[in-house]
Amino acid sequence: MGITFKPLSSRLVMEIDPWATEGVQNYKEICEKFGLETINPNELPSPTHLHRRGIIFAHRDLDNVLEARNAGRPFGVLSGLMPSGQIHLGHKMVIDQARWYQELGGDVTITVADLEAHATRGLSLEACRKYAIEEYVTNYAGMGLDPDKTSIYFQSERPIVQKLGFTLGKKTNLSEMEAIYGFSGDTTLAHVQSPLVQAGDIVHPQMDEYGGLRPIVVPVGIDQDPHMRLTRGMVSKTNWFNVNTNKSGGLTIGLSIQDNNTEVMGIREDGGVDNKQRTKVIDRVVGAINKAGFSQINSNPKHGKIDIKDASEKDRNELRYHLLGLERSLGGFGFMQPSSTYHQFAVGMTGGKMSSSQPETTMFLNDSMEAIEKKIKSSFSGGQATLEEHRKKGGNPDIDVAYQYLRYFFEDDDKELERIRNEYVSGELLTGEMKSICIEKASEWMKNHHELKDQNQHLVKKFLK
Ligand code: TRP
Repeated sequence: MGITFKPLSSRLVMEIDPWATEGVQNYKEICEKFGLETINPNELPSPTHLHRRGIIFAHRDLDNVLEARNAGRPFGVLSGLMPSGQIHLGHKMVIDQARWYQELGGDVTITVADLEAHATRGLSLEACRKYAIEEYVTNYAGMGLDPDKTSIYFQSERPIVQKLGFTLGKKTNLSEMEAIYGFSGDTTLAHVQSPLVQAGDIVHPQMDEYGGLRPIVVPVGIDQDPHMRLTRGMVSKTNWFNVNTNKSGGLTIGLSIQDNNTEVMGIREDGGVDNKQRTKVIDRVVGAINKAGFSQINSNPKHGKIDIKDASEKDRNELRYHLLGLERSLGGFGFMQPSSTYHQFAVGMTGGKMSSSQPETTMFLNDSMEAIEKKIKSSFSGGQATLEEHRKKGGNPDIDVAYQYLRYFFEDDDKELERIRNEYVSGELLTGEMKSICIEKASEWMKNHHELKDQNQHLVKKFLK
């Protein structure tokens, strides 16, 4: 398998085999191994080129978000970036996705993960701040986000994310952190805390002050999935009411007794069941189920279980929504498990991994046009060794950086991309020509981006409000 999660001193990295055909199988394997669902772009409203080309390839619970959108209910998107160096094309992909959700009606929250960068990249918080503003936020201003529906914040300056991380920390332990991240005895505690703060980032938009109960989707690279698994696990452990499938059909709601809800759930101090209080809470649950539109209800107060015969798997989100509302009114968090989508990574320009610490492997948004031209000219190519051979055998677009960058970033038109691909495969299009197309398209994109960026610098303050 071409992917392994391995703890590097600083953060999780992942090795992906970038060669497409094999890559595709790899990604399928990843989906199976980690229980991700594949994305069908035809089921999405106005899918972007990233969806259409299978670059965003998998998800968890995206349906929950799309259902909210279709029902005209609020939903949000949360994304985060470590401000640890120069902003590059890979970062832009995430913002493009946030903009897509925004165009579909979602609100956008973006985390500047300065605490994480401080904990894992050895940067001072001041240096992170400087990078964040000069590199990231100034460039975001050129990416078309609506400032009225976008909030960008620093982890170090939003105490709620730290507080939530701390509280959610009660739902995990060192063994789980070790199993998920490979942490060990010499891992610093700041590093151990950073995934908890990230969990705080991910759930806090659901707090009333930040927009309230609604699905939140987190678009990430597949390397961030461990954070999603940790967060989803912790969140589900905080839920007061679980929704389970019932073997004999229908769904079953179970009460989840926790430290902070024993009284509400009708548990006496001696551990026995307080029947009166138990009946009261079950009645409230039945009320919530009725509100969700179901009526064939059979409850067993003693066991804290409620069967709903007329509900099925497809009603799960709707039910959960009402139960989380009830949990909130009874004093719980009422957090929904976050949804997520996963994108593949563009290959680095030299044919290996893209890494911001090796400038020759990627394009920075603040690179000069000359630098970009040079990088594309010397990028790894899928062409043949000689002209003659190339004409005969054709090139391999799957490993050709110039082609891949058109596919990921610069050519929005599927037909045009297909044409370029076919001509390359047939040997009609030469490597140098492929690179020229890429240079031309990249220059166009960069020029446009820099213009938008310059025009919109006044938005930086608004984004950071
Ligand atoms: N860990 C992310 C990275 O390495 C940054 C991040 C922090 C993040 N909080 C987040 C990403 C919340 C998505 C959601 O870049």
